Amino acid sequence: MTAPNPFLDEDQRLALYGDARRLTQRTTVLGAAKVSGTPVAEVLASFLTDTPDHVLDVGCGRGGTTVHLVKAWLPGQLTALDASTALLDDAAARVADRAPELSPRVRFVAADFHDIPLPDDSVDVIVAAFCLYHSTDPGEVLAECRRCLRRNGRVILVTKSADSYAALDALVADANLDPGAVHRPSLYESFHSGNAEAVTASALRVDEVTHHHHRFRFSDPTHTARYLITNPKYELPEQSPHVIAEQLNSVLNGNGVSAQSTVTYVVASKT
Ligand SMILES: C[S@@+](CC[C@H](N)C(=O)[O-])C[C@H]1O[C@@H](n2cnc3c(N)ncnc32)[C@H](O)[C@@H]1O
Repeated sequence: MTAPNPFLDEDQRLALYGDARRLTQRTTVLGAAKVSGTPVAEVLASFLTDTPDHVLDVGCGRGGTTVHLVKAWLPGQLTALDASTALLDDAAARVADRAPELSPRVRFVAADFHDIPLPDDSVDVIVAAFCLYHSTDPGEVLAECRRCLRRNGRVILVTKSADSYAALDALVADANLDPGAVHRPSLYESFHSGNAEAVTASALRVDEVTHHHHRFRFSDPTHTARYLITNPKYELPEQSPHVIAEQLNSVLNGNGVSAQSTVTYVVASKT
């Protein structure tokens, strides 16, 4: 039997985001590996030229994007929504630390994005970055976004290609750490660069789709191992990065590994 996609399985998702540790390590290790690709916050900021009254950041996680949005757009209010109270606490601390003068405008809400606790026609701009692939039915979330949006309001969605970091699947298989990795479906299978436009069009008018190529270089076996243990796709025999690095070394011989991901932005509106 095929194991459920950990990004779509409710119990595994709760464990993944039950506290901030895994996401913090993943973000730090990926950041250190980044070679090229325009920062997501920079691209997001460029989509808006006017000042919105009310912004909703769906699946805000640790608030990395939230801080940039509130600083770049200066909205009258920003609602940051996530299912994980632990991550919301982290996000609140981040906003208070990095944008103290703007933090009174930001409200943190614990909720499921399939059932957004906001009135109809109450939001100007909704951002959902790297989170709709946690829904088995992202079209349902987009219909909910549509309900919350004012007329002519916009949604900005960010996701990754289904083949993101595929070079690492081949590596863990070659190193005999997880031979099944190359056959398992993408973590991003429900909402990725290849289907995001069509899924969005089921609920909203799609105005713009752009793809950005991001390249990564994990510098050596230890750096690679530190990333692999944060990726729930892999069924690793153990979680110590040093032991995993040793096994990777049989293939890498002290070298690093390159990987790539396409980041896709879909801008859509409520007509
Ligand atoms: C990778 S993080 C996204 C981080 C953030 N948007 C950013 O750009 O940095 C994915 C987030 O989606 C949230 N999430 C997953 N399923 C959700 C659901 N059904 N309702 C609300 N949030 C959910 C998780 O708790 C997690 O914080």
